[in-house]
Amino acid sequence: MSADLPPALAAAIAARLEGRGRAALADRARRQSERYRAGGGSAAVVTDETDALAYALARAPATYAACHAAFAALAELAELAPASLLDAGAGTGSASWAAAEVWPSLTAATFLDSNPAFLAAASDLGGGHAALAGAARLRGDLAADADLPAADLVVASYALAELPDAQIAATALRLWAAAGAALVIIEPGSPAGWRRILAIRAALIEAGAPIAAPCPHEAACPVEAPDWCHFSQRLARSRDHRRAKAASIPFEDEKFIYLAALRAPAVRPAARIVGPSHAAKPAITLKLCTAGGVLEHRPYPRRDKAAYAGVRRLGWGDAIFEEPASGPRISGKD
Ligand SMILES: C[S@@+](CC[C@H](N)C(=O)[O-])C[C@H]1O[C@@H](n2cnc3c(N)ncnc32)[C@H](O)[C@@H]1O
Repeated sequence: MSADLPPALAAAIAARLEGRGRAALADRARRQSERYRAGGGSAAVVTDETDALAYALARAPATYAACHAAFAALAELAELAPASLLDAGAGTGSASWAAAEVWPSLTAATFLDSNPAFLAAASDLGGGHAALAGAARLRGDLAADADLPAADLVVASYALAELPDAQIAATALRLWAAAGAALVIIEPGSPAGWRRILAIRAALIEAGAPIAAPCPHEAACPVEAPDWCHFSQRLARSRDHRRAKAASIPFEDEKFIYLAALRAPAVRPAARIVGPSHAAKPAITLKLCTAGGVLEHRPYPRRDKAAYAGVRRLGWGDAIFEEPASGPRISGKD
């Protein structure tokens, strides 16, 4: 499954760019990314339709790719067929498009956001997808006390980063309460994003929510600072996307972290690859988080043909389902 924007969404964004000055859009996209890098929220830099379009152009391809990767990882572990979706902090609706791609069972969606410019853009762009065209629009505060609308699948993508730290765990529990089948939270793949996910993970485990991914265990996270758990998804940049970001390279690698909790039982992998693999002549070495809650750098020697063939095509983020044949293990940090 491709992590690039679905053609209908890419075409909808391109159609809305017609007649608009690219320099002004690039300027708005730059202001937004400066704000995100400084740890600020989107409310001050997304105030109208043009801002929302600048976001859709510069950031939506990457958040779509991250959501798609997280959802695909979850779909590998459980046979989910969600019919309804709550996209909490929907922005321009990237997470909804990715969910509809991974789970064609979706027929109903709700976009929840505090920002009317984002809500309008999500509805406008969602009009190009059968499952999203009739999506309900809910203007509200994720972190407020009111109950969230229930849905089979609840997603918060790059949204909890905009809440004060003190509200994040409680908000995650409210999202879980609204989730009939699954909750997926996606955050930027930075040390701060990982720390948020750790706090959410602890709160969910304490509340009895079964963690399905990415961790193949519910023990303490074995990753230690200054290292941090995160994943990376490559995505193509269109010409307009490159212009909006003043970039020349035709692709980018989006770093992200996610957490998925499931109400139904899921397959528990033997390990997940939590870093880039190192291929050398004698062996491939994988950085694994194992079902035992241990971080290992495990070499798979070429001479061990069966074990090597089993992992040769796997990469960062993939699950390993069978306990790999043992090689010499090197436990611990990088
Ligand atoms: C960085 S954008 C992410 C948008 C989209 N989910 C994505 O992945 O591209 C963060 C979104 O969360 C929304 N948001 C932030 N705080 C919120 C709150 N307290 N209640 C509802 N929405 C909120 C913002 O308006 C914005 O749409």
